[in-house]
Amino acid sequence: MRFDILTLFPRMFSSPFQESILGRAIEKGLLQIRIVNIRDFAPGKHQVVDDAPYGGGQGMVMKVEPIARAIEWIKSEDASVPVIYLTPQGRPFNQKQARELASQTHLIFLCGRYEGVDERVRDLFVDEEISIGDYVLTGGELATLVVIDAISRFLPGVLGSDRSAIEDSFFNSLLEYPQYTRPYDFKGSLVPEVLLSGNHMAISQWRQREALRRTWIRRPDLLAKAHLSPVDRSMLEEIQQGQSDNDCARNFSPGKMLERE
Ligand code: 6GU
Repeated sequence: MRFDILTLFPRMFSSPFQESILGRAIEKGLLQIRIVNIRDFAPGKHQVVDDAPYGGGQGMVMKVEPIARAIEWIKSEDASVPVIYLTPQGRPFNQKQARELASQTHLIFLCGRYEGVDERVRDLFVDEEISIGDYVLTGGELATLVVIDAISRFLPGVLGSDRSAIEDSFFNSLLEYPQYTRPYDFKGSLVPEVLLSGNHMAISQWRQREALRRTWIRRPDLLAKAHLSPVDRSMLEEIQQGQSDNDCARNFSPGKMLERE
């Protein structure tokens, strides 16, 4: 899959694509990423990419011509490539959209800065607007990295043969169960015995129960959407009745950090 990223800050992308899973995917040729500096498409000695807003007001607006020229340059090779604009005004991004976008072969990501782009960029060039959440970033670059990371995990070979993004939490609408590794005893805090039992049936039941418990405590909204088996439903009822013996609530009260002050 090919990603073209249109940005005023190309260096923001240098290390994230060199490390770990994405770095390996690029080395293997599963991902092709091209960083396009919008400034290279701005004319004149000063290569101006922004200007004051018509009608007045704070800040600067990204000019339409350099963005138009950059997109047209990419589209001269591939006329049908969709353009995604990263903005807090976009559709909230989720795992389902990540999976859907992974079926494309080529995408353009346009990273906004300042007060955003001239509205005519939207009207004439943008196919889809994405937000990564209800908070404001300094620009679309970090959001682009988030979206590309989430999409790439769905591409065959990126996660390695024994793992698939389809098995992940959120795909199943449940949060992940707790994980442990050595040592068994860390300052008196022990690994649950069942995980050392070698009893695979008991382990998988424990994990499913803990996934349900964690989801119930942290994200009850997800449980409403989850596809639960009859066994899941009866486990969940047990969990909901025995609230006192859970250790998740302790780690997930909304005021946890504020209380310390
Ligand atoms: Cl896509 N861009 C910016 N600047 N802020 C955001 C965002 C995007 N998504 C959430 N906040």
